[in-house]
Amino acid sequence: MSSGEVATDRTRPARPDQTRRGRVLRTQRIALGAVAATLVLSGCSGADARRLGFPRGITTDSDRVTSLWQGAWTAAFIVGGIVWGLIIWAIVAYRRRGNEMPAQTRYNMPIEALYTILPVVIVAVLFFYTVRDQSVVLKKDPTPDAHVKVIGYKFAWTFGYSDPQNRFQPVYDTGTNETLPELWVPQGESMEYTLISNDVIHAFWVPAFLFKMDVVPGRENTFYKTATTTGSYAGRCSELCGINHSHMLFTVRVVTPEQYLAHMADLRRRGQVGDPQGHLSQEYNPNRNIAEGQASQ
Ligand code: CUA
Repeated sequence: MSSGEVATDRTRPARPDQTRRGRVLRTQRIALGAVAATLVLSGCSGADARRLGFPRGITTDSDRVTSLWQGAWTAAFIVGGIVWGLIIWAIVAYRRRGNEMPAQTRYNMPIEALYTILPVVIVAVLFFYTVRDQSVVLKKDPTPDAHVKVIGYKFAWTFGYSDPQNRFQPVYDTGTNETLPELWVPQGESMEYTLISNDVIHAFWVPAFLFKMDVVPGRENTFYKTATTTGSYAGRCSELCGINHSHMLFTVRVVTPEQYLAHMADLRRRGQVGDPQGHLSQEYNPNRNIAEGQASQ
């Protein structure tokens, strides 16, 4: 009797080892098919697949943040593999064969100690790498090359530039109804970001920075980033802040320092000079009962 007959002929009793092998083989085939389908359907290249869904980072922190992400997933996959393996093994090896109750194991000290200590070790390792990388990513730069004040409000952004090197007077930029606000970033320069909210909690998120930080009213959150790759990148709000939260987009333009200074001069020519305050939440007023005068104060 071949194992092929076992799978199709249910009337003949099969030897347990053949059935078990057949099931394991079938499970393996399904798992391999699922992995292959995921890779093909998502159109992942090798490098994309290795980043495990992370975008390609464009700052000096990117490699560090990407390997933290990969390490966390590797740990999760190893734990997941062991757990799935044990579940499948228990299902197959201890499936019901008769009416007797199988031996019950409880108060097994080695096992209880193992599943208490092991999770603590796993969490401690994840904690160690997270704290180590977080302290680098959030490190204060006492002498940044550039500075931008990011003001979030319902439902847009204003960017105010001032220069620690005194190359230009403060200027600002803000979007219009037709165009998204643009954040210009000088390539290779350490930029200080000061995050301010005029109303509710928003979150400043540039996926290509592999970084986000909350924008909290009544408080200034600060971080430093050095962008290494020129180009245009998407920016978003990643804190549900109201009805038009999903429209709270901006564009990041990483440019050469020369182009950055030229853009600052351009903002100055357009008269967008000074320290911006952003707007209060009057851009979009979903409550038509509030009088116009009251809403625009
Ligand atoms: Cu601002 Cu969501």
